[in-house]
Amino acid sequence: MLKTRGYATEGPTSKLAPFTFERREPGPHDVLIQIAYCGICHSDIHQARDEWGGAIFPMVPGHEIVGRVTRVGANVTRFKVGDPAAVGCFVDSCRTCESCRNGEEQFCEVHTAFTYNGTEMDTKTPTFGGYSSQIVVDERYVLTISPKLPPANVAPLLCAGITTYAPLRQYEAGPGRMVGVVGLGGLGHMGVKLAAAMGAEVTVFTTSRSKERDARRLGAHQVVVTTEPGALDPLANRFHMILDTVSAPHDINAYLNLLRRDGTLALVGAPPQPLAVQPFQLIMKRRALAGSLIGGMRQTQEMLDFCSAKNITADVEVIPMQQVDTAYERTIKGDVRYRFVIDMNTL
Ligand SMILES: NC(=O)c1ccc[n+]([C@@H]2O[C@H](COP(=O)([O-])OP(=O)(O)OC[C@H]3O[C@@H](n4cnc5c(N)ncnc54)[C@H](OP(=O)(O)O)[C@@H]3O)[C@@H](O)[C@H]2O)c1
Ligand SMILES: [Zn+2]
Ligand SMILES: [Zn+2]
Repeated sequence: MLKTRGYATEGPTSKLAPFTFERREPGPHDVLIQIAYCGICHSDIHQARDEWGGAIFPMVPGHEIVGRVTRVGANVTRFKVGDPAAVGCFVDSCRTCESCRNGEEQFCEVHTAFTYNGTEMDTKTPTFGGYSSQIVVDERYVLTISPKLPPANVAPLLCAGITTYAPLRQYEAGPGRMVGVVGLGGLGHMGVKLAAAMGAEVTVFTTSRSKERDARRLGAHQVVVTTEPGALDPLANRFHMILDTVSAPHDINAYLNLLRRDGTLALVGAPPQPLAVQPFQLIMKRRALAGSLIGGMRQTQEMLDFCSAKNITADVEVIPMQQVDTAYERTIKGDVRYRFVIDMNTL
């Protein structure tokens, strides 16, 4: 077994603290990755505080992982020692169900082994995430990243990037399409960059007036500060799709009203509380309310290759491991530009 250092929380009200645990010895298909950076996703906070229910403690969060390969199993073909490598939100799945065969492993019908707060394929052994020194993963669930891009800025692509890329592709963001992005946080800022790079006309909806200028720099063509009364009124029936990344309860009917006929509100933000839907907002214009969960391996690699080709990475604030609790508090306040990333050398 490989002794591994990390940061864990022991329960929903505990702080994150140093934690030592064991990872398996790499098997024939595994790679061992020394972790250089790990992003802080709002999902880490929801789960560390058990806001979604069913959390497994102790929990080592983190699913935006980049690093270098330090060991490879005998049958590994895609990686060699020294290669940059990345791991996202899951580390295994059944590989044979329809979703797995279609490259949508996040929806595995048998079991998706999420990177943390989950279990391996035996459904018993807990998984531990990227707030740690190293990780062992089957090469099939490891992504290739461009050595040209700065690794700290690449880390957030592994969740924030793919989570916004997938619905933007699904609902055909591109030239001639009006796309809204609600919430300018980790996911939202990637959504803006990606939608703009796909050629869509992008409008940001933010509660933070102070983010207006950034939103334009990130690629937004229009910015709406939603706390101003009547701000949404002129935009009714305009959007082909709206990507909602908000992490807290909010009124989605206001955004449904901005969709044109057959438009889609794609929810990726996952507040724990139910959201109320006014049925006529859907019925009268045949609008759709949809959800989207991260993305499969194939599409995650496609997104990384797209970002490499277009020179897209996240805007990050790199922090030492010891500042994780402060980073959580600032993230909850919407006070991050636009993703905290932990430097694992500080562990
Ligand atoms: N579906 C998936 O696969 C998936 C994957 C990853 C994350 N998520 C979920 O997506 C959500 C966002 O994650 P993130 O990491 O991007 O979080 P984040 O960085 O905290 O960004 C969320 C943004 O939402 C806005 N916001 C926050 N509280 C709000 C409120 N009370 N009312 C209105 N707007 C508010 C803020 O933007 P402004 O300051 O611009 O208003 C904030 O920056 C979380 O719920 C997370 O769990 C889902
Ligand atoms: Zn995430
Ligand atoms: Zn499967």
